[in-house]
Order: sequence, then structure tokens, then C-alpha cells
Amino acid sequence: MSFQTLFTKMEDHTLIITINRPDVLNALNQQVINDLDAVLDRVYKFPEIKSVVITGAGLKSFVAGADIKEFESLTKEQATAMAKKGQSVFAKIENSPKPIIACVNGYALGGGCELAMSCHFIIASESAIFGQPEVNLGIMVGYGGSQRLTQRVGKGRSMELIITGKTINATQAMNYGLVNYVVPQTELLDKAFSILRVCHEKAPIAVANSIKAVNAVWDKTQNGYDTEAELFGACFVTEDSKEGIHAFINKKKPNFKGH
Ligand code: COA
Repeated sequence: MSFQTLFTKMEDHTLIITINRPDVLNALNQQVINDLDAVLDRVYKFPEIKSVVITGAGLKSFVAGADIKEFESLTKEQATAMAKKGQSVFAKIENSPKPIIACVNGYALGGGCELAMSCHFIIASESAIFGQPEVNLGIMVGYGGSQRLTQRVGKGRSMELIITGKTINATQAMNYGLVNYVVPQTELLDKAFSILRVCHEKAPIAVANSIKAVNAVWDKTQNGYDTEAELFGACFVTEDSKEGIHAFINKKKPNFKGH
């Protein structure tokens, strides 16, 4: 797999995607958005990829936002189209049937914070800084931040962050419930792998259906309880459910195959 702006590496069935524009603190230009779109197609398609980690190149930044240099000559229509494209790629991350963890290794600002929030959850290094500073530029969040930050930290905190543009550090992000863990920079990937190893042992369809059910909370087009009941039922036609239930009853370790 080769991409202009991403570095990818497979390790223990996890695809590590590194946004690789360290000279500009991994700012998201349209090429990064297109490359993410393309790599996600492979994540959805290839069974050997069981999970994903997204991180940023270097020690300073996860992603310091959308590439501000691309904003200079945007028309209203172009800016709207840009937001819609970014939102659709981030929705692809959020709706991935395979777990995707953001390993935030520094600045997660603007589109970087929005990218991290589109992942299923976030692990932060002690040096991580989160924020939506778009108002400092006379613009606003555009890659889903108004929705996902509010979902994650509640209206008051989200509103304050978005309308003041202030940043918060890793400890504050932990207190807000924005991140699941804060670890030293050198332990970021190990922490993600220790969690993903556990997920890899579970039945993939049960994991995928669970992701769908949790995401249904915020989908206004469906009743989350109905969705959950349907997905729960769907698990019972899988071979893996027979394997899991049988293994428990016979005091054995299940061997899930993804069917
Ligand atoms: N878009 C484009 N380039 C960016 C960028 C962005 N979002 N964020 C940083 N860069 C570039 C800088 O222009 C600089 O490039 P240069 O070396 O050619 O001048 C380089 O990355 C290093 O950034 P710099 O500002 O010198 O680092 P710093 O340590 O002084 O400050 C930040 C770090 C993150 C506080 C600062 O870069 C910043 O505020 N970035 C913009 C954050 C933002 O507003 N994001 C939302 C965008 S919608």
C-alpha cells in the first residue's frame, strides 16, 4: 500500500496509518483526505486487516488541523464541498466495522481533533493538546466537530471549546471524557496494541455489530434500541455465536473464525 501523504504498516493484523506531513505538523490537505478515503476502502475490504491505529508523524503533532494554506482562495461553494468531503471520509472511519483507535501524539487541533473524534476512541500521549481553534481564523469547525465534540463532552464544554478556540491538555481531555487513556509518548502504540489484541480475539461480526449499535445512538434516522435488537438477532445466525456459546458451556476457549 503506497500513499503520497500516509505511511502505512501492518503489525499483528493492525494497520498503522501515520499521517506523514511533519513539516506542516501533519496538516490535512485535500491529498490527505483523498488518501485516507482510499486506505479506508482497503480497511473495509481486506480481512487480514482486523483493526486500525491512526497517528501522526513525528513527536510534536498528531494533526494541527486542515491545511490553512488551502483556505486562501476558497469560494463558499468550494468550502462547503470541502467540508462535505471531509465529513464523508470521517464518517467512513466512524462507521468502520473494524476498531479504529486514534493515538494522539501531540497537537490535535481543528481537523486533527475532528479526525481523532471520528475514531472509535482516543489514546493520548502526555504531550497531547486538543482544541477547535477555527474561530481564531474567522471560520468554524467543518469536519463534524460541532456534532462529535458535543456527543463526546456534552454541550457546555463543547460550546466553550468551539466558540473560544481555547485548547486543553491531555489531563483536561481525560477529565472531559474525550480520551480513554493518557500514556507517555513512547507507550502510545503499545497501549493501543494491548487493547486491540483483546478485540482481535473476539468474533469479528459481534464486534462490527457492536460498533454499529453504539453509533446508532447518534443516528437520528433510526431507533437505537430497535437497531440493537436487530443486530443482536443477526449475531445468532453466525457460526461464531455457536462457537462462543458452545465453548463457554464446555469450559473451552472459543476459536472465532469471522463467519
Ligand atoms: N495548516 C498549514 N500549515 C500549518 C498548520 C495548518 N493547520 N499548522 C502548522 N502549520 C505549519 C506552519 O505554518 C509552519 O510552517 P513553516 O515552517 O513553513 O512556517 C509549520 O507547520 C510549523 O508550525 P509552527 O506554527 O511554526 O509551530 P509552532 O510550534 O510555533 O506552533 C501550532 C504550533 C500548532 C500552535 C501552530 O502551528 C498553529 O496554531 N497551527 C494552526 C492550528 C489551527 O488553527 N488549526 C485549525 C485549522 S482550521
